[in-house]
Amino acid sequence: MKVLLLENIHPIAVEILEARGFEVELRPGSLSEDELIAALADVHLLGIRSNTTITPRVLEHASELLAIGCFCIGTNQVDLAAAAERGIAVFNAPYSNTRSVVELVIAEIIVLARRLAEKTQRMHDGVWDKSAKGSHEVRGRTLGIVGYGNIGTQLSNLAEAMGLRVIFFDTADRLAHGNARRVSTLDELLAEADVVSIHVDGRPGNAGLFGAEQFAKMKPRSLFINASRGMVVDDVALREHILSGHIAGAALDVFPVEPKAQGDEFTSVLRGLDNVILTPHVGGSTQEAQEEIGYFVAGKLAGFALQGQTALSVNLPAVQAPDLDRGYRVGYLHINVPGVLAGVNQALAEQGDNVIGQYLSTRGQQGYVVTDAVDPLSDDVLKRLIDSPHTIWLRTWQA
Ligand SMILES: NC(=O)c1ccc[n+]([C@@H]2O[C@H](COP(=O)([O-])OP(=O)(O)OC[C@H]3O[C@@H](n4cnc5c(N)ncnc54)[C@H](O)[C@@H]3O)[C@@H](O)[C@H]2O)c1
Repeated sequence: MKVLLLENIHPIAVEILEARGFEVELRPGSLSEDELIAALADVHLLGIRSNTTITPRVLEHASELLAIGCFCIGTNQVDLAAAAERGIAVFNAPYSNTRSVVELVIAEIIVLARRLAEKTQRMHDGVWDKSAKGSHEVRGRTLGIVGYGNIGTQLSNLAEAMGLRVIFFDTADRLAHGNARRVSTLDELLAEADVVSIHVDGRPGNAGLFGAEQFAKMKPRSLFINASRGMVVDDVALREHILSGHIAGAALDVFPVEPKAQGDEFTSVLRGLDNVILTPHVGGSTQEAQEEIGYFVAGKLAGFALQGQTALSVNLPAVQAPDLDRGYRVGYLHINVPGVLAGVNQALAEQGDNVIGQYLSTRGQQGYVVTDAVDPLSDDVLKRLIDSPHTIWLRTWQA
């Protein structure tokens, strides 16, 4: 099978795919719509990052394409519904940069507590201002984590290792790590925390989660960090609380409106404030995260092509079956109407085939069933299933 990787994807992806028998072609940049159509004629798996746009027209012409790997976090650049309609699986790497975000936040907690951003700026301006005023150790202080998911929990562990006390608030039931303590309301967390760090997801209900009311409820001289989503925080309210001195410092990596292109001007009401660290959405941007993304997405593409695995696909029903070590596998993506699964099982029963395992998942209008059996399906049965009006695709594998 042929793989095309665009946009300088990390070499570990090439290593993984070649080791599993794929023929890999690399191109450094992204391609336009017409260039993609020409390039994809005989390609089975495509790897892109955020600069390649996959439109319905591209998909329509990519007759051999089985799956697209987005070697990044976002998948907005791909028309996911159009890909799903054609049975083309799309994968990404939602959690490969968790550690990078956590390390940035850990650094920011100390930098804010010691007012280092301000101090280094003064030194660059030629001012020697040696003073302990407003500088604190982080040991013994309370970190309040809002959103205790992948990033929140890792942050919890590292922060405790530095001697911080951790409390957290999450709308879902989350197990406390280490000595961290769950609090039952956001207000409780705001009243207790010396540092508040936001790590909620991007669900629409989180827009404006942090505004004037929440900042007012934070402890006087506390610190605020947001490396989650820009829309979560009202930057104007934050500015007012920093200018009033109620909030002693803040670190922001994400903004309600972010520049589109490298070098574009960054406009924000938070520019020019003392002890405010502004970074250009780089929480997850490290070489290690790139390597992790390369490893993760290449594995997903190979697992889909060679084993029919769709776990963590962002657009097809997700099935994680064990790797096939004996017998035959049939992966059947179909329109989710009553009776399809019964039809597959009846076909197996008719030919006396013994089922080893069967895994089913549905998503929206589609269903995906993976069936492992001792014997291969006969050509007649395969033809009957393939000819069904409910079939999107059917693929078979042998151990
Ligand atoms: N700055 C960056 O470069 C960068 C990189 C990676 C991820 N992120 C962002 O970080 C955030 C966290 O990522 P993650 O992987 O930990 O996500 P996650 O889905 O694992 O965790 C999010 C947690 O927030 C909780 N939550 C949602 N809304 C809440 C609310 N209103 N109050 C309290 N808890 C709430 C959820 O229950 C969940 O436990 C996401 O928004 C993600 O987009 C930013």
